[in-house]
Amino acid sequence: MLSEKMTGALNDQINKEMYSAYLYMDMSAHCTYAGLNGFANWFMVQYQEEMTHAMKIYDYINDQGEKIVLNAIEKPPGNFGTPLEMFEATLKHEQFITKSIHDIVDLANGEKDYATQIFLQWFVTEQIEEEANDNELIAKLKLVGNDGNGLFMIDKELESRTFTAPAKKNDQ
Ligand code: FEO
Repeated sequence: MLSEKMTGALNDQINKEMYSAYLYMDMSAHCTYAGLNGFANWFMVQYQEEMTHAMKIYDYINDQGEKIVLNAIEKPPGNFGTPLEMFEATLKHEQFITKSIHDIVDLANGEKDYATQIFLQWFVTEQIEEEANDNELIAKLKLVGNDGNGLFMIDKELESRTFTAPAKKNDQ
């Protein structure tokens, strides 16, 4: 059982994770169009990860016997600029998601909702990794600057990123 407020916050978080997936899918398309297949792959893997985040919350609300309410997903901006600008936008978006997760943790703490506190710990840890990945790529992209060879090397490196699906529902 979840409070009405918590159910609403978690349903909103499903929407934010779905928007994240949609945003990264669009960024992937943008990179493919620009001939940056490694970057396109990185964002497509990110899209897949975001879908699993949304589904984790979906399963949790269902497991708690509460109602899923799906709302419209916002249109992504569509104009993404250079790879560096894309990763800066990605980091900014992930910081927004981190804040959103932390706000729900605050709510769970305030409500003494121990189950949701434990459930959200996975997301708190995941957000550290998400921001670290973005920061690492931003640093690399700043290092190569306008050097085409450097960008080519990073693109090649990002081709190797693969998606690993969670083994089962709510898998940690
Ligand atoms: Fe699911 Fe990238 O936050």
